[in-house]
Amino acid sequence: MGILVHCAPLPAQPFVDALRRLAPEAPVWQEADAAPPEAVQAVLAWRLQPGWLARWPQLQVLCSTGAGVDKLLVPDLPAHLPVTRAVDPLQAQALAQYALAAVLRHVRALPQYAAQQAAAQWKRHPQRPPAQCRVGVLGQGEVGQAVARAAQALGLPVALWGRSRRPLPGLAEAGRWAGDAELPALLAASDVLVCTLPLTPATRGLLNRHTLAQLPAGAHLVNIGRGEHLVEAELRALLDSGHLHSATLDVFEREPPTPDNWVWQHPQVTATPHIAGEARAELVAAQCLEAWQCARSGQAIPRRVDLSAGY
Ligand code: GLV
Repeated sequence: MGILVHCAPLPAQPFVDALRRLAPEAPVWQEADAAPPEAVQAVLAWRLQPGWLARWPQLQVLCSTGAGVDKLLVPDLPAHLPVTRAVDPLQAQALAQYALAAVLRHVRALPQYAAQQAAAQWKRHPQRPPAQCRVGVLGQGEVGQAVARAAQALGLPVALWGRSRRPLPGLAEAGRWAGDAELPALLAASDVLVCTLPLTPATRGLLNRHTLAQLPAGAHLVNIGRGEHLVEAELRALLDSGHLHSATLDVFEREPPTPDNWVWQHPQVTATPHIAGEARAELVAAQCLEAWQCARSGQAIPRRVDLSAGY
């Protein structure tokens, strides 16, 4: 009985190597066609195709290679099958570093100074007061909290938005908003909006012309959630109209964006190839082995996804 790694387009080898190091006795397959159907008890995956899971009648647990599990929640996912997500504090830190780099670049006007440098222009602009450097964070999971703490540590006013208001360690001073009814308040008070949400039916397309128009004029958007949170064409309209100043996007509706996609060329967009933060393969492998062990022995499975919530 063993584990099948099925994580294209991510490279499988780091996960396979880590699983073999941690559990040398367990068979590990990286090609579905090489795995005996009756022997696969755990699958470590990034993305699934509908119908694919039916190949593994003895499957006991499905583990995600990443923190987000949206690409695993296929319509025919059996309701009883435990699904787990990767939880890596260093991944959350990396995502917070990326988000803060974008926040600081915007609030300290570095692109403007880069353009001045190119023109050999020595011109000082008034520094933005903190009241115009408000950071709004969509999502209050590990990543949202890490972003909010990092911004707060640099003296930036921070507010978070999520489904409910729950105590968040180290963020007692942060503004807190919850539920659909309070989203406009968070948006109106976000000079930089950072999306860290999980992708669920409730959050798909949440960043659209109606919500983005509620950001203050001159705001900046940072998306490190999923590309499908954002309606890209509607962002473009708000950038072109001048209502939004700029955006930093690490995730896209389609990855990679096609070469003719406007995001590559737009002067107000910084685009990176989904690199803001990834879970370490060694930790992902260890968490998958732990989940498999718990599933086999009938114990509660850590980091289990609530399928009704979608994360
Ligand atoms: C990355 O996008 C992840 O979900 O871990």
